[in-house]
Formats: sequence, structure tokens, C-alpha cells
Amino acid sequence: MSSSSDPKAAASSHQMWGGRFTTRPSDVMQAINTCVDVDQRLAEEDILGSLAHSDMLAACAIISQDDKAAIHEGLIAIREDIRAGRFEWKPELEDVHMNIEAALKARIGAPAGRLHTARSRNDQVATDFRLWMRGACARMTSLLRDYQKALLAQAEAHADWVMPGFTHLQTAQPISLGHHLLCWVEHAERDLGRFEDAAKRLNESPLGSAALAGTAFGIDRHHTAQALGFDRPMANSLDGVSSRDFALEVLSAAAICAVNLSRFAEEIVLWSSRRFGFASLSDAFSTGSSIMPQKRNPDAAELVRAKPGKICGALQSLLIVMKGLPLAYSKDMQEDKVIVFTALDDLDLALNAMIGMAGDLTFNKAALEAAAGEAYSDATDLADWTVRELGLPFRDAHHVAGSLVKAAEARGLALAQLPLEVFQSVEPRIDDRIYSVLSARASMESRVSYGGTAPSQVRVQVQRWREALGA
Ligand code: ARG
Repeated sequence: MSSSSDPKAAASSHQMWGGRFTTRPSDVMQAINTCVDVDQRLAEEDILGSLAHSDMLAACAIISQDDKAAIHEGLIAIREDIRAGRFEWKPELEDVHMNIEAALKARIGAPAGRLHTARSRNDQVATDFRLWMRGACARMTSLLRDYQKALLAQAEAHADWVMPGFTHLQTAQPISLGHHLLCWVEHAERDLGRFEDAAKRLNESPLGSAALAGTAFGIDRHHTAQALGFDRPMANSLDGVSSRDFALEVLSAAAICAVNLSRFAEEIVLWSSRRFGFASLSDAFSTGSSIMPQKRNPDAAELVRAKPGKICGALQSLLIVMKGLPLAYSKDMQEDKVIVFTALDDLDLALNAMIGMAGDLTFNKAALEAAAGEAYSDATDLADWTVRELGLPFRDAHHVAGSLVKAAEARGLALAQLPLEVFQSVEPRIDDRIYSVLSARASMESRVSYGGTAPSQVRVQVQRWREALGA
């Protein structure tokens, strides 16, 4: 008797599709196909989805109340095993869905076979993944809030500390350190908004799309959508099982956020260097060198600076996995999870590191103030004074100030150290009131335009953020 006509042999070829198959998959088939090492992270969501689905099946009289009760009891016991680390994941059962279903069968027997009525792994995985993503967006949002609070506390404490502001990394104009730090609070707010937007858009239920075409069973998709906290069932079953743009959107938010974090991380690296000497990190956020005893390295900041390599790479990876895939589900999409999990784990860690470092930084007031006054950072104030007091057009004023910087540079002096005659040799109407604007602090304090760097303005923004963050 050939094995294909032996029902026992057929059944043993595969637990789920043994009816059609006669022999087991090759080792390499199993190796390329299995993903339970990755997607077991969806176990909680998978069980929630199955609880809601079986609840609905019973409510719609598609399965009996007794079967539903058995399924629920079994799933809850399995969830306990998983939480306690007692669950044995089997790679030969491919994924989280089939591992849990097989465990349910082992535990409750026949009723387990009814759970998959009117459902496919295609809508099941899409449901699990959207649920997981919603949670991940909430985690990123709450970490970004903590990051903002850490920055805000530092901004408030340093609202009137003067530091150099840079363009092209060249000293430009004196600014408030608090103002600088609040800039990163603004960035974080937009990062947070992107996660919130993505979470809102992805919060629709694919469950009930089944394999691709919906189902002939009289299911109630609104029931499961509501039970799982989705806003509504997805309106197109093909869309339900085939779309992963929600994951792409979250990865874009993650990539932009990682890039924003890397910029402040880079500043921490620069500021804590001997050359800048603006700030230092405590031992808690520094590392030493195995050979140079004097070293204190900002490794955590450097690693945050590096994270966009992986996180932007993840966005790129999933874009390329999805590119050109025809409708509806294709197995390519199984690769989405490892990409997303890794990227969001990285971002989670980067955010935690930034929260830690933002709170940990101590600033060097003297070094910041000295640097703020260097490199003719008050040249714009000189030009502005001649506009305001002498009525010069700004372009002429720019020329006057430029000539005076040149004169001061030739003498090795700061603008404030130039004798009045030198000012008057360039513009005879300049008088000694000019000295009152020639200091880094005066420059910073003068910039009172809305959103400007004057400490009075910075305090307005600190107050606004205190109210917004309830901090
Ligand atoms: N493990 C699969 C995934 O992550 C679940 C869906 C499988 N669907 C299928 N038709 N083979 O994509």
C-alpha cells in the first residue's frame, strides 16, 4: 500500500495539512519556513485574538457555548504556561499560531479544532501584528514623554545660562542653554505625534478577512473589532490580509525619531569632549578605556548616534520586502516581524539611554559662557545696534560690523575690547553706548522675539511645556 493512500501516514505528515500531504517537509524547508523563534513575541496578542474570535463564534452560534468555554479555559492555561516560561515552542510547528493551536488541541482535544472556523492565519497574523504595533506605539509615546520631561527639567534649570549657538558648527550667536534643550523637546513632540498618528491609522481589525475573501460563515466582525479595542473592522478583506503599510509607517516614525535622537547624542559626544568641555556625564553613563587610564568615553551617546544605521535600515528592509508584492498574502510578509521587533527594541533602548543621559548631564557654566563670547559672536549685535541707533540699512550695517571684526581680529582683540576710535574710524557716529550690546549675555538677553533665545522667552516656553506635560 502506498503511503498516500494510508490515512495514518498522511495524518502524520503534518498536523495542520496532513490531509493533502504524504511526507514531511525537508529540513531546509522547515528551516526557511519556521519563524516561531521570532513571532512567539506575538503570543499574548494571538491569545487575545483567539479569545475574541471564539467568543464571537459562540455568540453567532457557529460553535457551541461548551466548546467556547473549553477553548477559553485552554487558551488561558496556555497563556499562563507561556508567561511562566513553561511553554515548549516547537520549530516544526512553524509559527506562534500553530504552536498555540497544537497546544490547545493537546490540552482540550476536539473543541480545539473548531477555533479556526472562519479564520485563517492570514487574518490572524495581521490582527496580532496590529495589536502588537498599537502597544509598541504606546510604549514609544510614553518613553518620548519621559524624554521630554528630562529635557524640560534641564531646560528650566539652565534657562539663563549662555552658550554659543552654532551654524555650520561655527560659533554663530549666543543662546540660552535652556533654549537649546527645548529644541529637542519640540523634536520629540513631533516624533511622538508620528507614533500617535500611526497608531490611530492602524487601529482597524483585519480579523474575519479570513484567507483573503472573507467567509461564508455568519460572523460578526464588529464584535471582534470591538472586543480587541479596534475602532472598526477593515472594510476590504484583501486589504485586511495584505497590507503592511501600517508597519512601514511605524518604522518611518521610528527612523525619524532615531535620527532626531542621534543629533542630540552627537552633541553630547561633542560637548563632553575636552575640546568643548561644555558638559559631562557621570560614571553611570560613561565608560573607561582598557588601555588609557585617563579616558571617559560617552559610549551610550555614540551608540544612540549609531542606531539610525539599523533603524533606517529596517525601514528600507521592509519597504523592499513589500515592494511589488501582488495581492493578497505572500509568505514574504513573514519577514516583517523580525525587522520591526529589532528596530523597535533598538529605539526603545536608545530612548531609555537618552532619557538617562538627558537627566545625567551636568553643564560647565564657565566654559559655556567663555565659548559664547568667542569668535565675534556679538557681531550681529553690533550691526543691529547701528541699524537701530543710527538708522543704517542692515546691509550697510553688516559691512560696518564686518570691517570692525576684521580690525579687531588684526589686533587680537574682542569687539568689546576695541577702543572707541576704532569703531569711529569705520562709522563716525558710533558712540560708547555700543559697549552695552557687546557681550554674550546681553546678546542672548536681547533676543526677545517670540520663540527667541532670551531667557524671558525661554521661561514662557518652559511654562507652556510644564502645562502641556503636566510636569
Ligand atoms: N507565520 C505567518 C506569517 O507570519 C502566518 C501566516 C501564514 N499564512 C500562510 N498562508 N502560510 O506571515
